Amino acid sequence: MFKDKKIVFSGVQPSGTLTIGNYLGAIRNFTAFPEDHHCYYCVVDEHAITVRQDPAELRRRTYETLALYIACGLDPEKNTLFVQSHVTEHAELCWILDCYTMFGELSRMTQFKDKSAKNADNINAGLFTYPVLMAADILLYQTDLVPVGNDQKQHIELARNIAERFNGIYPGTFTVPEGFIPQSGARIMSLADPTKKMSKSDENENAVVRILDPRDVIIRKFKRAVTDSGSEVRRGEGKEGVGNLMNVYSALTGKTDEEIEKEFAGRGYGDFKAAIGEVCADVLAPVQSEFTRLVADKKYLESVMKKGADEARYNACRTLSKVRRKVGFIEPVRD
Ligand code: TYM
Repeated sequence: MFKDKKIVFSGVQPSGTLTIGNYLGAIRNFTAFPEDHHCYYCVVDEHAITVRQDPAELRRRTYETLALYIACGLDPEKNTLFVQSHVTEHAELCWILDCYTMFGELSRMTQFKDKSAKNADNINAGLFTYPVLMAADILLYQTDLVPVGNDQKQHIELARNIAERFNGIYPGTFTVPEGFIPQSGARIMSLADPTKKMSKSDENENAVVRILDPRDVIIRKFKRAVTDSGSEVRRGEGKEGVGNLMNVYSALTGKTDEEIEKEFAGRGYGDFKAAIGEVCADVLAPVQSEFTRLVADKKYLESVMKKGADEARYNACRTLSKVRRKVGFIEPVRD
């Protein structure tokens, strides 16, 4: 397929209120691509239903996630912003790719293992084949680059394997995508347990800083973050909590470890935690006020969704009809 621009694709699940992990690991980097890239950013509602969702909440969060994309600086005139279920080609390509994905490959996905442990009463087939839907999302747009946090690395690797396998049978079908993982912020850990990823579905509110948390809540959550019995701001064995806070601070300010150590030498954890809270609240304040304005304007958000879905569908259809032809489906007769 002729492409005059590099294609970027990424998505976020509207499965909870987004965290600074989502922001620093993913959304903030969505804005980093120059204009010679065509960027698609999708609210992946179909992924969200792999765990049980309240329908009204899911709808609300879908609007909110789109509003957050825009509030974080994604201009709908320059990026294709859309909702996954509005472009039915994703689910259709997913089925075809399911038939080119091995049971063994999916069984090795660590996120499947984690999520099935957490949702033992609902280990549905969608949870298992979820990475294939993600591969379909990416491959449908002939994507070159996929900006994501570290936890999605294995899924991107699988998307590459599926693309290469498919291309091996039907040459020239898909661009083989690459992950684009930020140098800092790619893996923000829970503030309550620094061995666990910060996750939007964490039940412990103190473990998670949300993009929309009020200033005083952000500051309080950082103050309560688990550290260790020492007081020196540096990385080291048994200092995972401090290491995580250094990651957050570095991602927010662009400072190196050395600079951070120097800044807080002899000052203790209390000062360090207070400084992170202040910086984080400052960085998020403009996003929050933009969000509040946007989320109140449902009509506008719906117009963005429509425009985005129309653009996405046009390109998705081109890939899908190629795939359909390659695997041997007859093109439907239309009048
Ligand atoms: P999701 O919704 O869990 O997370 C959205 C993005 O945020 C990143 N992220 C983090 N980064 C750093 N530290 C953290 N603690 C943290 N938590 C989350 C994720 O890596 C992700 O980039 N399967 C995907 C959504 C998806 C997708 C796609 C992504 C569906 N189709 C196609 C890219 C391309 C997911 O569940 O992300």
